[in-house]
Amino acid sequence: MAREQCIDPRDTVRSGYDTIADEYLARVSGSRSGDGVRTQVEALVAELTSRLPEGGDALDLGCGAGVPFTQLLSRHFRVTGVDFSSRQLELARQNVSGAKFLHADMTKLELPSDSFDVVTAFFSMIHVPRDGHEQLMLNIASWLRPGGLFLASFGKRGAAEYWEEDWLGAPMFWSYHDPGHAQELAENAGLKVDRAWVETIEEGIDGPETFFWLLASK
Ligand SMILES: C[S@@+](CC[C@H](N)C(=O)[O-])C[C@H]1O[C@@H](n2cnc3c(N)ncnc32)[C@H](O)[C@@H]1O
Repeated sequence: MAREQCIDPRDTVRSGYDTIADEYLARVSGSRSGDGVRTQVEALVAELTSRLPEGGDALDLGCGAGVPFTQLLSRHFRVTGVDFSSRQLELARQNVSGAKFLHADMTKLELPSDSFDVVTAFFSMIHVPRDGHEQLMLNIASWLRPGGLFLASFGKRGAAEYWEEDWLGAPMFWSYHDPGHAQELAENAGLKVDRAWVETIEEGIDGPETFFWLLASK
């Protein structure tokens, strides 16, 4: 039987990140060059902080080990980080003081409406099975306050879900939409797309990487 017929992809992602959390952290925090993932996200967080009130509420979906992105957010916002990998969350709690963390599946989160000024999903919605994206986008739109911002990376490849036998040392599941469809999901959820772009960085987690980015407002 094919893997996708017998294993919930979320179990693969959760246990995959439990296994590779330390390796992932070494790669993401080691990327310091001008063309690395860290520089890319630093610029995006600067854009968020320039548009939002200091001390606002931020929700970081799939926060991983919290370094450097949740930590960057926590310099400006009151951050709630969410991740369903125990090891990632254990690292995040060690790495980011002052943030609140929820050990939860982002697709099952229940949060009050109008409670966040910004919701981010850095390289995490690319692991959520596609049939969960529509409801997740509706939830994100409801959690945002009017004027709030949503920033996330999606796959640039055509619509596809696929498994990799060994990614950084564990099996992994990926879930991509066509960029146009990701944009449509945000718009259907009532968000206004402020900027949508494809960007390649030379020093991603696993070599050169291209993602579709979406910055939308409520
Ligand atoms: C590629 S890592 C990104 C971590 C961090 N945002 C960063 O950019 O360094 C993806 C993270 O999303 C988490 N994740 C994936 N699907 C999730 C889900 N449904 N609920 C909660 N966390 C999830 C994984 O456990 C992992 O820590």
